[in-house]
Amino acid sequence: MTRTQVAIVGAGPAGLTLAHLLRRQGVEAVVLERRTRAHVESRLRAGVLEQPTVDLLRELGLAARLDAEAMTHRGVRLRFAGATHRLDLSGLTGGRAITIYGQHELVKDLIAARLADGDPILFEVDEVELSGLDADPVVRYLRHGRRRELRCSIVAGADGFRGVTRGYLPGTVFEQLQPFAWLGILARTAPSSDELVYAAHEDGFALHSMRGPALTRQYVQVPPDVDVAAWPAERIWQTLRRRLGHGDGLDLPVGPILDVTVAAMRAVVTEPMRHGRLFLLGDAAHIVPATGAKGLNLAVADAAALSYAIGAWAGGAPAELDRYSSRCLDRVWRTQRFSVWLSQLTHRLPGEDAVDRRLRETALSELVSCPHTGAAFAERYVGQPLPTPWWWNG
Ligand code: FAD
Ligand code: DHB
Repeated sequence: MTRTQVAIVGAGPAGLTLAHLLRRQGVEAVVLERRTRAHVESRLRAGVLEQPTVDLLRELGLAARLDAEAMTHRGVRLRFAGATHRLDLSGLTGGRAITIYGQHELVKDLIAARLADGDPILFEVDEVELSGLDADPVVRYLRHGRRRELRCSIVAGADGFRGVTRGYLPGTVFEQLQPFAWLGILARTAPSSDELVYAAHEDGFALHSMRGPALTRQYVQVPPDVDVAAWPAERIWQTLRRRLGHGDGLDLPVGPILDVTVAAMRAVVTEPMRHGRLFLLGDAAHIVPATGAKGLNLAVADAAALSYAIGAWAGGAPAELDRYSSRCLDRVWRTQRFSVWLSQLTHRLPGEDAVDRRLRETALSELVSCPHTGAAFAERYVGQPLPTPWWWNG
């Protein structure tokens, strides 16, 4: 049996960011992770960091490799009705931008920095069970064949959508499945554009993104019940070329496909994000549809808010813990609205007719032609300021 102040379940972006923020405030934490270090460091997921996420990582001194290797994008391309338009993100937001950096690279950096600090991350932890959540939490788990107990004052549930901690919340779960999914394609090809291209084609959505100078990450809209076997490389390239406008300012080279996955598009929110001494953050508390790349950034915003509340509690101001859930949920629902709206604006919806399509194209056209509409979009796309400072000075 061991004891710590905060038990963090899950070593994804949410749990690891929280662990670093707590350390800066002198709060002790143990991170428990189900998978191996190699697994979490190679798991392919999101790739877009908002400006507030990058600012936070820099303030924490965790952005050295990111600053050396990541790509800064000051604009984004929207393609619809047969033409590609550029939205000047930096011009519309007073100089802010997005940063392209694979989630697994960020996770690698956060793990390396925590271990270099001499702080614990326990990998390969199984059968996590929680008890005593009203006052005196205990986390029981199995590791390397031995059952163990960790006593703590607070449990942070950062174990993602398929984790166990969300099952301990008695609250309401709001859930909506979008009527489309993404086929995610990682290919060894050079990016064809220096900025992301979101395409709302009449056949369906496509997205051209990247992970480095010789690696592209692209997505095509597919039905939720897609059979991946029906998508051989040739069909993937043909679809990407057609939807993204190959030959019209974008030359998409064909190259080796390294990975193909299907991602469902879900909107999920758990309310409240707290039960007694258990606090949920990141995907454990909510999922947003992927369009706009908000999931990882929302996880980091939750971590900032929770570290603030825990820092306040440790400094003798426990009421901040009571404010955590409502503070986060405000941002969560605003982000949910943005992600659902952008998804529905850019995807072909089942049963849509020519009028629906024209209305979508008109809304997209307003985004790139009206400075007010464009600025409102750009503000949300590059990321709104974090809900709290991440420090607590008592
Ligand atoms: P996670 O990253 O899921 O981390 C949770 C951690 O908890 C994991 O390491 C997991 O192994 C661990 N864990 C789970 N169960 C247990 C347990 N019982 N005990 C201990 N540890 C446990 N977002 C985008 O913006 N763009 C994208 O393209 C995109 N693609 C995605 C693709 C996939 C397949 C998935 C699942 C998500 C994707 N997302 C994307 C969403 C984004 O990656 C998430 O929002 C982000 O990972 C949230 O971070 P997190 O730390 O909350 O959760
Ligand atoms: C990526 C994912 C997104 O959901 C998005 O909107 C933009 C880029 C990506 O994985 O690179």
